[in-house]
Amino acid sequence: MDSPYPPLIDGFGRVADDLRISVTDRCNLRCTYCMPAAGLPWLPRTDILTFEEIARVAGLLVGAGVKTIRLTGGEPLVRRDLVHLVEMLAALAPRPDLALTTNGVLLAEAAASLAAAGLDRVNVSLDSLRRERYEKITRRDELDRTLAGMEAAAAAGLTPVKVNMVVMRGTNDDELVDFARFARDEGYVVRFIEYMPLDADGRWTSDDVVAAEEMLETLAAAGVETEGFADESPEPATRYSIEGREKGTQAGEIGVIPSVTAPFCDRCNRIRLTAEGGFRTCLFALEEVDVRGPLRAGAGDDEILALLRKAVAGKWAGHKIGSPDFQRPRKSMSQIGG
Ligand code: GTP
Ligand code: 5AD
Ligand code: SF4
Repeated sequence: MDSPYPPLIDGFGRVADDLRISVTDRCNLRCTYCMPAAGLPWLPRTDILTFEEIARVAGLLVGAGVKTIRLTGGEPLVRRDLVHLVEMLAALAPRPDLALTTNGVLLAEAAASLAAAGLDRVNVSLDSLRRERYEKITRRDELDRTLAGMEAAAAAGLTPVKVNMVVMRGTNDDELVDFARFARDEGYVVRFIEYMPLDADGRWTSDDVVAAEEMLETLAAAGVETEGFADESPEPATRYSIEGREKGTQAGEIGVIPSVTAPFCDRCNRIRLTAEGGFRTCLFALEEVDVRGPLRAGAGDDEILALLRKAVAGKWAGHKIGSPDFQRPRKSMSQIGG
């Protein structure tokens, strides 16, 4: 089935066809690069969009050409009955590609039912393979459950299982080679992510960032042979094949996401819906458009779609991390939705 509405195009000619939906601002970890130790003031439940409201907005956007939907949080698996939302989204026409970004702690129990409900794949956050360090970064002792969650996801066919490692200088940058081997040996796709100024504590400094170039140099110096892919996909990661990996699938690949040193804003196809129904056209946007208000006031489909279309039309060229006029968004990563 073709999309009934014209595509969502911004003022720079970029087509928005990748929707990220945050289903909760809550989380069962407290990663230092994202949340304070004490957590954040959670949204009251009545402020959070219901599954019906989410599915309605997603349906309109799918009708306007959105092809991929990713569920995020906070931690999406702490939202009760998430499987049901996956079913509702899998029933949309045209059926979108459905993915989930999770910290993996609750994934072992959920993987099979998520796959049965129509989820296509998962990305799991994992920043250290060493138990004590994992606990230091996330402030919870959950490495074993996260690893079990990744295995369960692979077994349930939620592949390729992608692993997101936020690389921080002096914290975990000595594990790049271990992670590259882990990707090859376990058949995961590991992506090394530059640390962005989205931590709630506001401690980020540019000194903490390890540039993607430097990551690749470190791998090369350790004898990890990488071969780049000629890749035009809008995926933020620059992908590399590593020696000895299984060919013919993405399994065992690595990638780097240079969000700070080489942002992919000029080919950004993303739009976001926050847990409380804010529509954002950039991770770093300073403003968002309230969709929950109109939804609950009985607005018609055309009215809501017009609101979303106008927001996309006004999308800015990109963030300005590193430039003197860069302004951090008021919200941190878990409140926006990774
Ligand atoms: P794939 O389609 O599987 O490649 O998904 P993805 O990489 O978009 O998803 P994921 O949620 O795993 O995000 C990976 C990382 O990309 C995040 O940790 C962020 O650091 C970064 N990222 C995600 N969205 C944006 C964005 O809109 N802008 C920027 N600058 N970085 C983003
Ligand atoms: N910089 C880069 N990536 C981040 N994430 C969370 N906070 C940051 C940050 N400050 C990542 C998580 C998760 C994804 C949704 O976002 O590791 O994989
Ligand atoms: Fe939770 Fe993800 Fe933030 Fe870690 S990065 S505290 S897992 S929302």
